[in-house]
Amino acid sequence: MEDPAAAGLAAVLTPAGRALLDGLPPYDEAGAMALGERLRAQGHDPALVAAALTQSRLRARAVAKLGGRARTMLLTATGLEQATRREVAERHADRFVATGAGRVADLGCGVGGDAVVVADRGPGVLAVDRDPATAAVAAANLAPYPAAEVRCEDVAATDLAGVDAVWLDPARRDAAGRRVLDPRRASPPLSFAEALAAERPVGVKTAPGIDHDVVPAGWECQWTSVGGDVVEAALWSGALARPGVRRSAVVLPATGGAGVVVDDADDPFADGGPPVGPVGTHLYEPDGAVVRAGLVGAVVAATGGRLVDPTIAYVTADAALDLPTAAGYVVDEVMPFSLKGLRQRLRERGVGRLVVKKRGTAVEPEELRRRLRLEGPHEAVVVLTRVAGRQSALVCRALRSP
Ligand SMILES: C[S@@+](CC[C@H](N)C(=O)[O-])C[C@H]1O[C@@H](n2cnc3c(N)ncnc32)[C@H](O)[C@@H]1O
Repeated sequence: MEDPAAAGLAAVLTPAGRALLDGLPPYDEAGAMALGERLRAQGHDPALVAAALTQSRLRARAVAKLGGRARTMLLTATGLEQATRREVAERHADRFVATGAGRVADLGCGVGGDAVVVADRGPGVLAVDRDPATAAVAAANLAPYPAAEVRCEDVAATDLAGVDAVWLDPARRDAAGRRVLDPRRASPPLSFAEALAAERPVGVKTAPGIDHDVVPAGWECQWTSVGGDVVEAALWSGALARPGVRRSAVVLPATGGAGVVVDDADDPFADGGPPVGPVGTHLYEPDGAVVRAGLVGAVVAATGGRLVDPTIAYVTADAALDLPTAAGYVVDEVMPFSLKGLRQRLRERGVGRLVVKKRGTAVEPEELRRRLRLEGPHEAVVVLTRVAGRQSALVCRALRSP
């Protein structure tokens, strides 16, 4: 399906079109039709009015992801969907700035979600995209930065003379629109980034599910979560990688703020694996980025606890801790899992609302909730998992900050 924002781009790229767009009031879905009628009645070209209102709607939608600067950007629907969210782009840009790079190439720049943040920090930017509409949007978004240049070409043809470091956020959809999870099959593929890394430091965004074995030797792979959702894994080579760090996780709060970084140096059990032992008074569910990075041992170390099972990423301990890297629960009861037994205990506790968490079990939470038919004033969290190899149910309460 054609991207309507891309189709109307030519109209909003003219000075008159841009002036109309930038002069629109904040987008209001309910008033959009009347506004369109008014603008057409004033003599504005209907195609331009449609394109400007599409941009205005996209800008409003983009603010949550790209921050306040989205109010002055041009966008396409696809470009917005693919763009790196602001707080994550800022962390990427921090790495480039820390290397002292004077000119950074963004190869496959999209609408410029990463490129504008780098340009904003000072380095010159060479932004490249082979899609003409996308490159035109990137050029508009980078126009305020005199040291930024945009080229519409295939990155395989890009002359990188004068470029100190490279960022790649490869397209992760195949020709049929299906998701491509393996960075070796993205566009451009990981092999392209590895070849560039022989000359200059390179950063590459990948899907969070990247196989650890695919990470090139000597590179750092950093998984990032925002508000508990794992949004990416990024691979960093050379001076863009932190010395001695191979795996790391950044946990960013949904509400903004610096977040916290955990890396393999924080995992004292890297060699033998963390200890395993009986369920204690508290259970900790490590953040998804920490789990993907294989750094659950860091949560075990932070709690002074142990795993409930050697193959499962639940940590148990005997202390109430407020951790940025894990959600905490008070464990009220541990029982072997059975529908009948669980129903009886939850009814005795007057539990009507149930949050189901699970790891290492095939039970479907929705199906379980339906079959439990609970009624009652209280809420509980049930964690279904293996404890020492046995399917178990842990009846818990979310732990508030001490
Ligand atoms: C995931 S998007 C980049 C998003 C960008 N980081 C942002 O935050 O807005 C990937 C982009 O790479 C471009 N692309 C993919 N393969 C390319 C190639 N071989 N040469 C040039 N551009 C390419 C696509 O057109 C797409 O716009």
